[in-house]
Amino acid sequence: MPSCTDYCREKLIEACVTARGDGYAFLSNEIIEHEIDPQSKQDFLDSIATVPQEAFANPHNIRSRWVSYGYVDYVNGKLWIDHPSHNAKSGTTFSQYNLMPDTNPELAGVNRQYEPMPLKVRENACFKKLVYLGYLMSPVHAGDSDNPALQRFQAHLICFTPREGIDSVATPDAFHQDDDFVFCVYLLERNNVEGGVNYFAPLDCSGMSLKDAYPKVLCEKTLLNPFSAYTVNDRIVSHYVSSIASRGDGAARSILILSFKPMKVDDVVSSKTGIGISRRLSSASESLMVEKDAVGLKPW
Ligand SMILES: [Fe+2]
Repeated sequence: MPSCTDYCREKLIEACVTARGDGYAFLSNEIIEHEIDPQSKQDFLDSIATVPQEAFANPHNIRSRWVSYGYVDYVNGKLWIDHPSHNAKSGTTFSQYNLMPDTNPELAGVNRQYEPMPLKVRENACFKKLVYLGYLMSPVHAGDSDNPALQRFQAHLICFTPREGIDSVATPDAFHQDDDFVFCVYLLERNNVEGGVNYFAPLDCSGMSLKDAYPKVLCEKTLLNPFSAYTVNDRIVSHYVSSIASRGDGAARSILILSFKPMKVDDVVSSKTGIGISRRLSSASESLMVEKDAVGLKPW
């Protein structure tokens, strides 16, 4: 399990508390970057160039994404990543993730599948640190779970490279919730682009356009520096990220989204992943223990 300095922990907990009450909180890049060793950071950023393009992507505005799933078991000091799904026919691995047509204006109606992060990236120290810091800043409520210290997470590494003169459409192009408990977003690169402005608004703005919701907008802020971040309590605010346009050569914006969901015993029992998870009540922590079985889970 990674660790962080007391200063960073203090700032992350502060953000967590703010997001719990206000619905969102931002963190400056200095707080995050200071925690990451330069080599693993560079390796992680270099890996962005290898993220595969979506098969159905608009050829002018190229979207690329990896999706992986895992668990954080904080009490027992473990991070886990799922064994990726395997397509026996094609021999490829992928992570299933569905975006509905109405939240997917540029690629409506297609079933979007993504490759998981390669093992090398999942084992990268910078990535693991970002998961750990994301876990610390995620505003989970004490009553959310039998044990908020055991959380399922989704990791989406998304790279968007818009082309000059062809504006993209925000996905979705309205205020919305992500059907998550909590999530955080790290900016990884921002080069020669305009837009990607983050807006937060009350829940009753869900489904509204930016123009209609604007009088009620609570916050309007853009992540500009790599490793700046924000954390969101998805249950109490809606959000919107504006479209992104190219403003020169090498236009690109890449982010890492980590969504966290605390697990309940029912989730564990009904887990479809085949993961062997058993419940043990320890007198000290009453924690859920995650046990590795033979399906390929890899402790980090
Ligand atoms: Fe969203």
